[in-house]
Amino acid sequence: MRTQLWWVNPETFASSPAALGLLSEQERAQHQRFIPPQKRHEYLATRVLVRTVLGRALGVAPQSLQFVNNAWGRPELLPLAPIHFNVSHTDGLVVCLVAPNPEIGVDTERLVRGPELLALAPHVFAPQELSDLNELPACEQAQRAVLLWTLKESYIKARGMGLTLALNGFAFRFDADQVRLEVSPALGDDGARWHFQTQMLGQHCISTAWGGDFAKSEIYCQLTELA
Ligand SMILES: CC(C)(COP(=O)(O)OP(=O)(O)OC[C@H]1O[C@@H](n2cnc3c(N)ncnc32)[C@H](O)[C@@H]1OP(=O)(O)O)[C@@H](O)C(=O)NCCC(=O)NCCS
Repeated sequence: MRTQLWWVNPETFASSPAALGLLSEQERAQHQRFIPPQKRHEYLATRVLVRTVLGRALGVAPQSLQFVNNAWGRPELLPLAPIHFNVSHTDGLVVCLVAPNPEIGVDTERLVRGPELLALAPHVFAPQELSDLNELPACEQAQRAVLLWTLKESYIKARGMGLTLALNGFAFRFDADQVRLEVSPALGDDGARWHFQTQMLGQHCISTAWGGDFAKSEIYCQLTELA
C-alpha cells in the first residue's frame, strides 16, 4: 500500500445527513456537543475523512469501522489492521495520513499563526532550533516557526506519546532542502531513522513524519464526496 495524504475542507459536509450517517452513535452525540458551528463542522469532517479513506483502503463500509485510543489518546483501528492513520485539524483544513507503517504522524497549521508561534518559541523549541531561528533574516522567522511547530508535532504524533516527549529533547535542523532530526539519548530514539516532508496547501502548512525504512511513495487526494 502507498502512503496517502488526504485532505478536506471542514465545511464540505456541514449539513449533510449522509455524512452524519457514517458516524457511530457516540460520535454523533459528541458532534452535537460542539456549540460553535465551525468546530462542529471540523469534527464531522474529521470523522468522515477518517472513516471514508480507511473504509476505501480496507474495502469495508465506513460506518462499520471501530477505533480504540492508546494510553496517550492516539486512535487506531480495532481490531488492529495492517493500516495506520493519523489526523490533524485546524481552521479551514482537516488532513489524514494513511500508511502501512504504524510510526506515522501529521500536523497542519495556518501560516498566519507564524507570529504567535514565534512568540512561543522560547517555551517550545529546542536550544539548537532557537539559535538557527535567530540566525534567519527577520522576515523568514515566522514561517520557520510554523515549519518547526508542525514538524515537532508530526514527530510527537508519530511517537504516539503526546507531550510526555520533552519538546526540547529533540531538534529539527535544516541543511539546504533537507530536514534532519536530532534526538537526545534520553528519548530512546535515533533521529536518522525518521523521514519528514513539509508542504504548503493554500494558507496551511502540513508536515508528515514516518519512522523506519519502508519505501515511501505518496498519493495526495482531496475528499470531495462520500463513498
Ligand atoms: C494530540 C496532540 C499530540 C496534538 O494535538 P493538536 O496539534 O492540538 O491537534 P491536531 O489537530 O494536530 O491532532 C489531533 C488529533 O491527533 C490524534 N491524537 C490524539 N492523541 C494523539 C497522540 N497521543 N498521538 C498521536 N495522535 C494523537 C487524534 O486523532 C486527534 O484528533 P481527534 O481527537 O479529532 O481524533 C496533543 O498531545 C497536543 O496537544 N500536543 C502538543 C501541543 C504543543 O504544545 N505543541 C508544541 C509543538 S512545538
